[in-house]
Amino acid sequence: MLAIKEICQQVPVIPVLVVKDVAHAVPLAEALVSGGLHVLEVTLRTPAALEVIRAMSTVQGAIVGAGTVLNAQDVQAAKQAGATFAVSPGATESLLAAAETEQLALLPGASTASEVMYLLERQYTALKFFPAESVGGIGMLKSLYGPLPAVSFCPTGGISPRNAADYLALPNVMCVGGSWLAPEDLVQAGLWDSIAALAEATQTLGTRKA
Ligand code: 3PG
Repeated sequence: MLAIKEICQQVPVIPVLVVKDVAHAVPLAEALVSGGLHVLEVTLRTPAALEVIRAMSTVQGAIVGAGTVLNAQDVQAAKQAGATFAVSPGATESLLAAAETEQLALLPGASTASEVMYLLERQYTALKFFPAESVGGIGMLKSLYGPLPAVSFCPTGGISPRNAADYLALPNVMCVGGSWLAPEDLVQAGLWDSIAALAEATQTLGTRKA
């Protein structure tokens, strides 16, 4: 099992994907991988999501995880669908226990010092910082770095090409997550080259990996 931090450190941005049609799965994953973003988060927010994870996992080089994993059943379903990792907006005891039982690498969400401390006590040192922009963004991450320098974050929620480089410049940011890599209109129109170009543009955002 790959550690979640090792997965996150491979890319500047993890695309957060909401895929409705399984027919889009392979061309979308191929476009993102060809643009240099091979770590993909497929949110469990559509009926097709588990099938999309299965399909994307066949794409050469792709590391596919499940997002919006909220409970133990989601962890089990993600694992069975072939997800390499799971991402959750927060953390509960039963969710953490299920991920540990299933041996599924988990990026749990936190947005306060207490939540970070709770997860640190459970040996989680790589966390999703969510919803990043709404809970204080860059200022909050700088403040957390003082007392909690051992924790690396993947800020998600409100990240865009406008602010991604500023997040990636922080010493406690290992990557960012965002949905801007797969806009609904481009996916529906099958404009895969445009999506590959969006992915490629992230390669200049920054190289620091907390
Ligand atoms: C999510 O889970 O939806 C992520 O936080 C994506 O947020 P974004 O749409 O602001 O990138």
